[in-house]
Amino acid sequence: MELTPEMNEALEKASRIVAGSRHVVALVGAGMSAESGIPTYRGPGGLWTRIGEPDPRRYQNFAADPKGWWERTLERDSQAPESPDQAQFRQSMLDARPNPGHYALVELERMGKLKWIITQNVDNLHREAGTRNITEIHGNRMLLRCMRCNFRIPRVEFDIDPHNLPPRCPQCGGIIKGDGVMFGEPIPSDSLNKCVEQANLCDCMMVLGTSGTVYPAAGFPIHAMQRGARLIEVNPYPTPISDTVDVALRGPTGELLPRIVARVREMGKT
Ligand code: APR
Repeated sequence: MELTPEMNEALEKASRIVAGSRHVVALVGAGMSAESGIPTYRGPGGLWTRIGEPDPRRYQNFAADPKGWWERTLERDSQAPESPDQAQFRQSMLDARPNPGHYALVELERMGKLKWIITQNVDNLHREAGTRNITEIHGNRMLLRCMRCNFRIPRVEFDIDPHNLPPRCPQCGGIIKGDGVMFGEPIPSDSLNKCVEQANLCDCMMVLGTSGTVYPAAGFPIHAMQRGARLIEVNPYPTPISDTVDVALRGPTGELLPRIVARVREMGKT
């Protein structure tokens, strides 16, 4: 990627802010995984852009009849996906691997700079890349979760008995669902508490590949800024916070994050 002089200057400023910070937190959105082949939800080519937003009452429908929901889900999983777009999206999740942006954040964590990642992505790619300190605020597609006690377990380790639905939590007997947070579902309390703690601790928040349209995640950068934290945005397109961040880097995370981390590493040597 050829950088303009303005972009180089912005990269230098962003690197200086990160290098001079003591508690960096990253707020990550679907754009981070675009270079891993997973379509975003909004913006050009986004999944919701193509097929429309999902039913906002999805969680209410589940809570009203979890047994029926599980019966339909197990039935559906044994059949062809609902639509070509859904099929393509699901396959892209299965095929996706971390990209240089994910690995750049792993290195920033190992350098002791990046203290936490709050990701809205359910694709598990940060963990696969090696990130340790992370909250998946919208859940993780590979996990199941108890609605009552937030017990989580990998899907592959949990035998679902199709004759005894909905599946029950081995810890407290609560109803087990996919860990992915459905539209209309409250964010699990343990996840939300951790995100708020990190938004309160950070002196720099990197806002990476998110349209900043879904709350409460979209509120964390604003809250951090109001506390005096510096904001760095990496996104090829403008977002609602672009005019308020300290540095807005107009480009892909997979290209720009490795450059920032390389400069921060050099600055750390001087
Ligand atoms: N690098 C960085 N950003 C990118 C890239 C890229 N290579 N490609 C696209 N983007 C940006 C887009 O410009 C857009 O601003 O990523 C953003 C993706 O926005 P959304 O698709 O809205 O994804 P996100 O912000 O994560 O959505 C939040 O909405 O539908 C729910 O639960 C879903 O977690 C998701 C939440």
